[in-house]
Amino acid sequence: MKVAVPKESLAGERRVAVVPDVVPKLTGAGLEVAVEAGAGTAAGFPDTDYRAAGVGLVADQKKLLAAADVVFKVQPPTPPEVQLLKKGTILLSFLQPAFNGDSIKALAKQGVTAFSVDLVPRISRAQSMDALSSQASLAGYKAVLMAASRLGKFFPMLMTAAGTIAPARVLVLGAGVAGLQAIATARRLGAIVEAYDVRPAVKEEVQSLGAKFVELPLEAQEGQGGYASAQSEEFLKKQRELLAERVGAADVVITTAAVPGRKAPVLVTADMVKRMRAGSVIVDLAAETGGNCELTKPGEVIEVGGVWIDGTRNVPSTVAYHASQLYSRNLVNLLLHLVKDGKIELDFEDEITKGACVTHGGEIVSERAREAVGAKA
Ligand SMILES: NC(=O)c1ccc[n+]([C@@H]2O[C@H](COP(=O)([O-])OP(=O)(O)OC[C@H]3O[C@@H](n4cnc5c(N)ncnc54)[C@H](O)[C@@H]3O)[C@@H](O)[C@H]2O)c1
Repeated sequence: MKVAVPKESLAGERRVAVVPDVVPKLTGAGLEVAVEAGAGTAAGFPDTDYRAAGVGLVADQKKLLAAADVVFKVQPPTPPEVQLLKKGTILLSFLQPAFNGDSIKALAKQGVTAFSVDLVPRISRAQSMDALSSQASLAGYKAVLMAASRLGKFFPMLMTAAGTIAPARVLVLGAGVAGLQAIATARRLGAIVEAYDVRPAVKEEVQSLGAKFVELPLEAQEGQGGYASAQSEEFLKKQRELLAERVGAADVVITTAAVPGRKAPVLVTADMVKRMRAGSVIVDLAAETGGNCELTKPGEVIEVGGVWIDGTRNVPSTVAYHASQLYSRNLVNLLLHLVKDGKIELDFEDEITKGACVTHGGEIVSERAREAVGAKA
């Protein structure tokens, strides 16, 4: 069986779906690996590294995909890219069905068996395949560095001959995987950190990282599987009122709040931004799904009344080397879950296989994906 790795086409995407490191795991399972020439260059993996790992490099993407039984990607293929995949190809990629309905429909029509890494169930057995977590963790780390480099202040407290400098105050909204990594990074840089999440279960994790958990007198809607559920507009309005003071006191606000498959909730309004000190920085990691700050412009860094709002898209791609390394391991683990004796064997009774499979046999088979693209069963 041949595994093919095309070069990513989305503007600004630097990651690659297979790094040379993981190739022995694939070849050891009886799979052959071919990579499009130059696919890893932007992530720091030149063609020579792939060659040294025994990988075949193919210059022509069409030829590469036409010969593939399995395709590894980072970004969902566009509908024209889907047409390059032959019927029966197994695709492993981020597909985010809620935001890529046209690609999902094209994959079903093309007869591709597509697995969306973002739909892998968050169960312990699947932790090694959890690309949402591996990428979110890098984004949380990088968000703090982005904020620190824009902020005209030190993060740590400094005692100098010229006097003492107070530490920066960082507020992290949403303490999931990205938020917890942001807290840890900001603490390592010496900031005073506070964090808030609708899930009270994260309080202890926040505290164990040396941050203060902001408690609000609010009853949040319980979610499932460790996730938050969407809160009512009334809840979010109250939440914003209660958070306004904490936001106003912060030098840096990192927002990471998300509800799977939905638009991100607005936690920081234009009015709250107005109350922040000039020079403060908001890094909105939810920019891609609409933003946690009302003023965020996805893909842009803007300044409003002296406050910087960073809506950089695809932050994991800015840490492309390690993002690709972790992502490749996630994909390889997912593929090996589907392979027996060098052949794909799909067991739809299995929670991971069933949960992550989006299209198969010409149909959209995932209920979540069908709902997201508005297709009928
Ligand atoms: N394999 C596993 O068992 C596994 C793997 C990964 C994550 N998880 C669980 O899932 C949790 C969340 O994962 P994630 O980081 O991918 O989630 P996510 O990216 O969907 O959301 C980020 C955070 O935003 C929070 N949030 C949502 N609405 C909010 C609001 N209105 N105000 C404030 N915060 C809000 C969520 O509670 C979450 O903590 C993890 O912390 C963990 O408990 C389990």
